[in-house]
Amino acid sequence: MSIPFPSLTAEEAASHIQHGQRVGFSGFTAAGVPKAIPLGIARRAEEEHADGREFQIGVLTGASTGPSLDGALAKAHAISFRTPYQSNADLRAEINRGGARFVDMHLSMLQQTLRYGFLGPLDWAVVEACDVTAGGGIVLTTAVGAVPTYLDKAEKVLIELNRHHPPTLLGMHDVYQPLDPPLRREIPIYSASDRIGSPLATVDPAKIVGIVETDLEDEVHGFDKPTPATEAIGRNVADFLVAEMRAGRMPRHFLPLQSGVGNIANSVLGALGRHPDIPAFEMYTEVLQDAVVPLIESGRCRFASTCSLTLSPEVMQRVTGNLPFFRRRILMRPQEISNNPEIVRRLGVVSMNTAIEVDLFGDVNSTHVMGRQMMNGIGGSGDFTRNAYLSIFSCPSVAKGGKISAIVPLVTHADHSEHSVQVVITEQGVADLRGLDPHERARLIIDRCAHPDYRPQLHQYLELVKQGHSPQSLSLAFAMHRQFDRTGTMAGVVWEDWR
Ligand code: COA
Repeated sequence: MSIPFPSLTAEEAASHIQHGQRVGFSGFTAAGVPKAIPLGIARRAEEEHADGREFQIGVLTGASTGPSLDGALAKAHAISFRTPYQSNADLRAEINRGGARFVDMHLSMLQQTLRYGFLGPLDWAVVEACDVTAGGGIVLTTAVGAVPTYLDKAEKVLIELNRHHPPTLLGMHDVYQPLDPPLRREIPIYSASDRIGSPLATVDPAKIVGIVETDLEDEVHGFDKPTPATEAIGRNVADFLVAEMRAGRMPRHFLPLQSGVGNIANSVLGALGRHPDIPAFEMYTEVLQDAVVPLIESGRCRFASTCSLTLSPEVMQRVTGNLPFFRRRILMRPQEISNNPEIVRRLGVVSMNTAIEVDLFGDVNSTHVMGRQMMNGIGGSGDFTRNAYLSIFSCPSVAKGGKISAIVPLVTHADHSEHSVQVVITEQGVADLRGLDPHERARLIIDRCAHPDYRPQLHQYLELVKQGHSPQSLSLAFAMHRQFDRTGTMAGVVWEDWR
């Protein structure tokens, strides 16, 4: 196949990018992310640094990426600024030591924030494609992310043409950008499978500086084996949704599901798929993880609208091996559409995301360990939670072998407030917070969700602080965290010692 643009090596492509520039990369999670050019930029940064010169760039992506982008650039200390989400251990360390400025953003807002000019100009778009036309039509690979906006706003464009993905992925993407206020109209999606845009991303071909050819699989790793706790969480979520259906609060034909990222989300989806009383469902979500592909194959999941196919290479092969089947059942959309609050609320999406910690009122911390250390970021969890028909957060009741309780008097960082979170689920049980006042919420969360080892001390806390609309003590609210800092466990807090 001939390429209608200059052919470059990764090193040549990287040599175009200058210190201080901002680069928008394709991809969403490790799916659809360019790999050769970022590795070239990382090598370049190392050489520049060895020669005593500064070299750092601003990195914008769709969401998290893989080791060749965030990992390599972080190790080379080549990232000055990063948004909107990450989950790479090396970059996390760089951010937490203050080496890279990280702006943690709602994923649905990234594209419009860039269009409005709030993130400054964009020098480059670096985009992975499986086909490119001379007129600037681009067939994206396993994600759409923020690419349409990066292609529009960037001064210049580099393309990684990845032969690993077949050009027959054409037709799996639905590329659409809304107009900006005051011209914006409703986004005409009325069911998860509605197609509203173009199968191609487009760019002014004059912007394309060159193309780097590769043959590389996505750097998506599989999941940890389910544990008894993650299995129990999955069952609890499935049983709760069945009970909602029986009570008539959930339509019989069900509502579209959104599911978050990580091991727990993967287990929850597996449990929903297996549950005999849950009807075949649709998904309106941002990330399609491995667990969904067998559900589509078996007809348990009728259709999935997503931003990315975050599939391990083996599972991705099943999709590319049967594209005519999957093309009718999966659509990838830009993140401002896959996560769009208007659509989430219109479709009545049931959101299921994961918490790091939850407080007695239902406020959720999804991002910060002990209020200080960034884990990954808020991702799309806020886009969905705030607008969902039913918003669910789940997590194991304890972390780090029981030394940390996920149920705490007050979250150390608030991502989702009690006003948006409706249901909390751990392996212990379900706390349905709808229609409850703060005192009722607190008792229910302790009794249903906290680990039995932590229930007595949490009840003691409530007894000590019972006055006020929201029972809380300014001096004791973080005693469990403070004790963990000092002794390495939250268990056995003697509240009087912390006054
Ligand atoms: N204190 C300290 N560490 C905690 C903790 C707590 N209260 N709760 C969890 N952790 C640690 C775990 O021990 C684990 O650490 P390890 O990697 O060293 O083993 C890590 O956090 C991940 O937890 P795990 O239980 O394996 O859950 P997960 O893989 O499902 O990830 C989140 C959970 C919250 C980190 C992840 O879902 C996330 O980043 N969410 C925010 C973004 C989001 O929701 N996006 C989806 C929107 S569509």
